Amino acid sequence: MLEIMLFVVFPYVALAIGIVGTIYRYLTNQYSFTTLSSQFLENELQFWSSTLWHYGILPTTFIHLAGFIIPSVMNALHGTPELLYLSELAGKVLGIMALVGAGIMIVRRLTFSKIRAVTSTADWIVLFLLFIQVFFGLILAFTYRWGATWFIHTATPWMNSLAFFSPAPQYVTALPLAHKVHFLTGFLLFAVMPFSRLVHIAAFPFSYMWRRFQLVIWTRRKASS
Ligand code: HEM
Repeated sequence: MLEIMLFVVFPYVALAIGIVGTIYRYLTNQYSFTTLSSQFLENELQFWSSTLWHYGILPTTFIHLAGFIIPSVMNALHGTPELLYLSELAGKVLGIMALVGAGIMIVRRLTFSKIRAVTSTADWIVLFLLFIQVFFGLILAFTYRWGATWFIHTATPWMNSLAFFSPAPQYVTALPLAHKVHFLTGFLLFAVMPFSRLVHIAAFPFSYMWRRFQLVIWTRRKASS
């Protein structure tokens, strides 16, 4: 029963809260679709944390999605030992970049009083969840080797079973605790999205991904000579 609650009911509830909540927030408060950047208050650590985080987590997310949506292609991509080694290495490097980025974000908010002052409880919860999520992802990657292959025979059929409304939790219920924490936190992040600055993920159009960082330009009148 607990397993049905955790691996069937909870994912649907979390997705429903994430989707309905995000649409509701968009319709009622479009201008709140922002990261509420604090670059203005501190620039250097913000640059390193944001760059490491985003360059690590975005490819990781796309690799996860590919594993869910096109498992046969992903399987073929890991078809030789060399490719499997390479993908393991890439996954770990990207994950470590994301973890260091999230770590710097937390330290930065703890260290600078001005930034701490503009950090809400929701911000702390999201930062903590993201850190935990990536941390457990790396635990999986380091302690249960060859994830690229077992991913496709566990997480993929479970996710697909949810997507096609024919839930099959048995693909994941026998996995170790670290896997379960990682999967459940993944869905929890969906649920907290509309209540936090994570909504910026849904900020369409996504031009912020390739535009330059926020530029703050001071315009002062020249001192008269
Ligand atoms: C419920 C959805 C999710 C499932 C089923 C899932 C599944 C997995 C699996 C099976 C691995 C091990 C892969 C390997 O060892 O090669 C992994 C690793 C990882 N996951 Fe997830 N994950 C989910 C959501 C997320 C989310 C939302 C994030 C980030 C915010 C994330 C970040 C990571 C990272 C950083 C790694 C380690 C790097 C890697 O090996 O790719 N995961 N995930």
